Amino acid sequence: MSVAPEQTASAERDFATTAHAVESEARRLIASYPRGHARSAMLPILHAFQNAEGWVSPEAMAQTAAWLDEPLSVVESTASFYTLFHRRPVGRYMLQPCRNLSCIINGAGDIMARFRERLGVQHLETTPDGLFSYEEAECLAACDRAPCMQVNLQFVYDLTPEKVDAMLEAMHAGTFAVPPLPQTASPGRDWHVAQEGAKAPGARGVPSPNDPGGLGDKSGVEMIERLTRDAYPVRVRPTKERLVVDGPARLGSPIGPSEH
Ligand code: FES
Repeated sequence: MSVAPEQTASAERDFATTAHAVESEARRLIASYPRGHARSAMLPILHAFQNAEGWVSPEAMAQTAAWLDEPLSVVESTASFYTLFHRRPVGRYMLQPCRNLSCIINGAGDIMARFRERLGVQHLETTPDGLFSYEEAECLAACDRAPCMQVNLQFVYDLTPEKVDAMLEAMHAGTFAVPPLPQTASPGRDWHVAQEGAKAPGARGVPSPNDPGGLGDKSGVEMIERLTRDAYPVRVRPTKERLVVDGPARLGSPIGPSEH
């Protein structure tokens, strides 16, 4: 699917139609688990809603709870646990560069700086045209291809600032390999959370609860400096070495008889 930038205006939202479209998939998912384990279909049903609407709306969570006969609080607490679910309208491209240890050592600082500069946004913000939402994520479990990110939950590996430039240009042109999300509601400018009373965010030098102190923050940088200076006095430098060389993509291969 290719969507040109001018098509980023929100489509009129009709949740009843969306729920109807998702229902057959939900029934198939629920039926794929043993009787009494319908709850196991919760995450894929939420993904189905997100694929249909671009986000997991309160109505989607309520409908999921009803289909699974689970309390709404169970669905909400599950969805809120994962950065994979967008619980608010987001841009057509959800950009989530990793800011954790392997990625920081391999240059994620430059990647995040490039995104912030090119898009004019900060962590947890959406561009005014609604095209891009930006969130610096914790480890995405692709440390061997650092620095990496997810675009609409698809991985992009071995980032460089130049790669970021090319990526954004392709997205603006509607030619990027990862399709844009549907957008059934206009995203807000940001989704910062308010500071709760005097509660500290739990990281040194991090005054905002929106920056919980990952390695992209001051506390994480201090920790790396301490580790490399005191505990493990080694020279840390970016590397492109790989322990395992990726073979041809095999994930899509059909399951068949062994060749051996
Ligand atoms: S540190 Fe970035 S993927 Fe693990």
